[in-house]
Order: sequence, then C-alpha cells, then structure tokens
Amino acid sequence: MKVTVCRKEHFNAAHRLYNTAWSDEQNDAFFGKCNNPNYHGHNYELIVKLTGTVDPDTGYVYDMKKLSTLVQEEVIARFDHKNLNLDTEEFAQLNPTAENIAVVIWNKLRPKIDAGYELAVVLYETERNFVEYNG
Ligand code: NI
Repeated sequence: MKVTVCRKEHFNAAHRLYNTAWSDEQNDAFFGKCNNPNYHGHNYELIVKLTGTVDPDTGYVYDMKKLSTLVQEEVIARFDHKNLNLDTEEFAQLNPTAENIAVVIWNKLRPKIDAGYELAVVLYETERNFVEYNG
C-alpha cells in the first residue's frame, strides 16, 4: 500500500536569469525582465513529496516533523532571503531558473532520504508557473 505524503515549505529569494555565454542583447531578448541586472524576487512555494509504504505500526509513510526539519536544514536555511546568484555556491555558475532550483533541491534531499522512498520536488515560482522534478 503506497501513499504519497507532501510537505509544503516557503522561501523568498532574489535572482537574475542570464546565460554568461550570451551577449546582453541575446539575454535581454530571451529572458526579458528576468534578466534585470539589479535582480528581482519571488515567493517560492516548495512541495516535497515522498512516496512509500504505510508502516503498519505507526500508520505513517514518513514522520512529517522529520521531513520538515530536513527541508528547513537543507533548503530553507540555505536559500531563504538570499540572492541566489550572489549568495549561494549552487547558483554562482548555474542559471537559477525554477527548473534548476528544483533539480538542486532534489539533489540535496535525495541522499538524506532512504532509497526506499520515491522523491519528487514541486517548485512554484509564481502562482501560475511551477515545475516538478522526480530525478
Ligand atoms: Ni524570476
């Protein structure tokens, strides 16, 4: 009996989208306002999903307190109220798109969660734009 449990967390961060290999004109043409040299911010909503079997002793798939603490330590503490381009090692060279942020978060969490669980990361950059990464 497999069930997916989901934990929603939140962080605020600034970023600028650009490709260092492109000219300013190319970056402006493709990324538009997202390429603003003075950065802009988002209220990111992060949903971490774990799929696994329900433990017959506890009725739980995973201890949600444990999951919340893990996401706080691995993700929120690193990225909340940061400029992703300037303040984080992860995005010093990597364009901080929602896609890349979701992959980075998945890669941080995967080794910390038992391999028996399937892991998915959903990241909302705006209410209408969101991405999902399943590894
Ligand atoms: Ni943006």
